[in-house]
Amino acid sequence: MNEPTPLVIANLKANKTWEDLSIWLKEVSQEAASFSGTVVLCPASPFLASSSAEIKSKNIPIKLGAQDVSKFAEGAYTGEFAASQIGKIVNFAIIGHSERSRYFGETDDEVIQKIKLCFESQITPIFCVRNSDHLDSYLKRSQLIKEKSQKVIFVYEPPAAISGQKDYKPATVENIGREVASMSQLLGPTATVIYGGSINSENARSIFSIENIKGGLIGQASLDPVSFKAVIKNAS
Ligand code: PGA
Repeated sequence: MNEPTPLVIANLKANKTWEDLSIWLKEVSQEAASFSGTVVLCPASPFLASSSAEIKSKNIPIKLGAQDVSKFAEGAYTGEFAASQIGKIVNFAIIGHSERSRYFGETDDEVIQKIKLCFESQITPIFCVRNSDHLDSYLKRSQLIKEKSQKVIFVYEPPAAISGQKDYKPATVENIGREVASMSQLLGPTATVIYGGSINSENARSIFSIENIKGGLIGQASLDPVSFKAVIKNAS
């Protein structure tokens, strides 16, 4: 992974129209310009191409990621988009987010397949796992993930800590530190491990200063450009 860390990744999920998103880009671009790490925007898929064009034409220092890719290579799969179709537009794709298994029944085998397709299209997977045991089971099942672990951004994202649900429970700094240390142990010291789940402007500083953490995946607090800019500020 060549991008400067920390990585601050906005997962906008199924939120925002194109009008909202262009305002977001304009507002966040200044903060991103003075940030020593990397800001990544993951908008809803219909806006990947327009976001890419906007970023290029206005020279905005923000990288682009998809929120998923199809488990299939290109072909007759109505409603899907293939990794190969976005390889020239995005640098990253979130793969294996727990909302994909929770609401769409995505399996770990499908996740492994999606990671393979990302590599084939030069997309860096932002690969979400529930905990270090979950990562361990992936590493045992997929030689590819093991071999290419330097080219993956691993996200420790406990599903219970994701703020989209009513009864979410933020993870503690101790818990995050412990799981990230176990993940780093499995992957080696040079792997890129980040955290996701209820990061906001208030807890960002303490989360980003946990040892071995090289970034964060931010949902709810990325929607409002003001709170997202505060997260970026507190990440440095
Ligand atoms: P959250 O979401 O920041 O709203 O908890 C993170 C994510 O789901 O990636």
